[in-house]
Amino acid sequence: MFTIEVNTTSSLQETYQELNAQLAALLSGERDFICNAAQFSAFVMQTVPDLNWSGFYFARDEELVLGPYMGKVACTRIPFGRGVCGEAAKTQETQRIEDVHAFDGHIACDAASASELVVPVISQGKLIGVFDMDSPKVGRFTEVDQAGIESFVATFVSATDMNWSFAV
Ligand code: SME
Repeated sequence: MFTIEVNTTSSLQETYQELNAQLAALLSGERDFICNAAQFSAFVMQTVPDLNWSGFYFARDEELVLGPYMGKVACTRIPFGRGVCGEAAKTQETQRIEDVHAFDGHIACDAASASELVVPVISQGKLIGVFDMDSPKVGRFTEVDQAGIESFVATFVSATDMNWSFAV
C-alpha cells in the first residue's frame, strides 16, 4: 500500500512541494507510460481538492486522443486549437481558465465543470499531449496551483519512458 501524507499546516506552495516528492516516490521504479499516466491521474484526483476530472489527452498527428483519467466519461478526440485542451496543445502553454463558460470554444464533457487547468506534456522538446483538470468551482486554480501541477507534470515526464509498444 502507498500512503500519501498531506501536512495540513503547510502553505499551498509547500503542500505542492511535499506532494511532488511523494509523486516522485510513487512513480519511481516504474517507467511504463500507461501505468504512470494512470497513477498520475489518480494521484492528482486523490490529493488536489475540488476536482471533478483529472486526466490525459495524448497527441496523435494534429489531434488529442483521450488517455488515462479519473472522472466521468469524456470526449475522445479534440483537434489541436479546439477547446481549452486543444489551445494548450497548439500553443504548448498552460491554460488556466477561471470560468469555462466564458471561454470561447470550451468543450463541455462534464456539465459540472466550471474552471479548468490544462498543462502541456512536453518531453525532449516534443509535445506528448496535455494533462487536464476540471473543477466544479469557478476560479478554482490559482497561480500556485498552476506552478504546482506544472511541477507534477515535470516529475511525470522525467519518471516515464515516452515511447511504448505492445507485444503484438
Ligand atoms: N473541457 C475540455 C475538454 C476535455 S474535458 O474537460 C475532460 C476542453 O475544452 O478542451
